Amino acid sequence: MVEKLPESGKIWYNGKFIDWKDATVHVLSHGLHYGSGVFEGIRCYATDKGSFIFRLQEHVDRMYRSAELYKMEIPYSKEELTVVIKETVRINGLDACYIRPIAFYGFHHLGVNPTGCPVDCAVAVWRWGTYLGDDALENGIRCIFSSWRRIDPKTLPVTAKATGHYLNSMLAVHEAKDRGVDEAILLDNNGNVAEGPGENIFAVKNATLYTPAVESSILPGITRASVIVLARDLGYEVVEKPIKKEELLAADEVFFTGTAAEVSPIREIDSVIIGAGKRGEVTGAIQSKFFDVVNAREERYMAWLERV
Ligand SMILES: Cc1ncc(COP(=O)(O)O)c(C=O)c1O
Repeated sequence: MVEKLPESGKIWYNGKFIDWKDATVHVLSHGLHYGSGVFEGIRCYATDKGSFIFRLQEHVDRMYRSAELYKMEIPYSKEELTVVIKETVRINGLDACYIRPIAFYGFHHLGVNPTGCPVDCAVAVWRWGTYLGDDALENGIRCIFSSWRRIDPKTLPVTAKATGHYLNSMLAVHEAKDRGVDEAILLDNNGNVAEGPGENIFAVKNATLYTPAVESSILPGITRASVIVLARDLGYEVVEKPIKKEELLAADEVFFTGTAAEVSPIREIDSVIIGAGKRGEVTGAIQSKFFDVVNAREERYMAWLERV
């Protein structure tokens, strides 16, 4: 069972901090009926040097890019939203948390055309542990290939992190849970590996990293971009290219990246054991570097951390 969020604290909603119980929407909101919202998932880490938000600017930039792709005008500047995000963490007194900013078309009229609907905006935070289970980071998770294909750029701007897009992710997650495993992997419309329902994916073969490029219908993950830099700085070659299902199954190591998943090894896909069936050496090196970076132990990457 997934744990319920605490019904407490303050949520920033349309310019004001309000009590958790008051942060509600009307049932006739456009966003509820048509999935017309954009959002982000961001992590704040408690470190020996204080609390830091990982790649805050990149997340805010992606949220505004997502809005642009849907012609939605967020009624606050990026700078204002950045200040609000930090303030929401502070006001809730959390040293480590998950941060969820969202902008969506609110109530005015109902009809697919949102013109005239307000763009409502909120930021909430909550304490959050490892997304895929406590032992996932160490021992890896079990996956299936979903029978649902990842949404296609011919139909939707897949690089936007938009609320409606997650119906596709939800179907894949249901399928994984129904089949008794931890997570799904979606293929793109050409049958190449795309990503997880909320994670990007990497394969390791002979100490080279491979990851699907944007052409494979992925959401360009901020953790993915960070891991590419870290891997190269560690001396590994990283190649962005289409990856076939069988290449993934034959990889030495496979892992997911994402704000929620962080760096999570995958030990099994469709009952095929990947590599040695546990976290591999390259995944271990990258995961350990990633946690050093987010925990402010790496001077070189301090520019990725924003103090709360
Ligand atoms: C569909 C999807 N792909 C990939 C990711 C990973 O992106 P990031 O590393 O920016 O969290 C996410 C999470 O935001 C996602 O929802």
